[in-house]
Amino acid sequence: MKVIKSIAIMGLTASLLIAQGQGKKKDEALQSVVHAGKQSAKLLLKTLGSNMKKNMKAGGPMKALDFCSQEAYNLTEKVNKELPKGVHVKRISMKFRNPANQPATDEAAVLEALQKLKSANVVLPKQIVQKVDENTYKYYKPLVINKNVCLKCHGNIQNPTLKRAIAERYPLDKATHYKMGDLRGAIVVTIKK
Ligand code: HEC
Repeated sequence: MKVIKSIAIMGLTASLLIAQGQGKKKDEALQSVVHAGKQSAKLLLKTLGSNMKKNMKAGGPMKALDFCSQEAYNLTEKVNKELPKGVHVKRISMKFRNPANQPATDEAAVLEALQKLKSANVVLPKQIVQKVDENTYKYYKPLVINKNVCLKCHGNIQNPTLKRAIAERYPLDKATHYKMGDLRGAIVVTIKK
């Protein structure tokens, strides 16, 4: 009886140890996903943000619009070339201006969940990780309208020249009438092992 009991205990301890080892491995995998996601999102935000600022300063919203419509997408692709293999970054929104920024189905589910939280006055998390399959994760950084300058092009657009120029370039534009603090979309970093 005693022997059986100690064998059972040994077995239990062993399986706990194995489970713990697996848990640790999972933690490490998640940590490296978060690290890659954070770095890539930061790089994209910095690249787009600094160029936007430069253009806005140099020539106001019309020049900044030229930058956004001609360069934002290309610059995103350029950032992607600098990222490690298997890591890809982009911007998405349910109310997108450029149809290339339309979310995939699994991404739309995350944006809709974030919007629900926002509507319930929840302070949004800085980051969310979605497990797509054994080898693929998606890291999301929610983007909120947090500066007045965003409203120049995504709010109730006052400047008639700017309004016309945006409508001409983006006939299917959905990205207007935002207010300060609204959820604008997210940066998504796809990380493949
Ligand atoms: C000068 C006008 C302008 C300003 C200011 C501006 N945007 Fe945009 N934004 C655009 C344009 C144009 C696009 C479409 C870019 C493209 O074609 O890829 C865009 C696209 C986006 C997208 C990608 C999703 C989509 O709708 O296609 C996000 C997210 C976004 N803007 C957030 C912001 C935030 C946040 C701010 C404030 C920090 C901001 N924008 C300020 C013009 C602007």
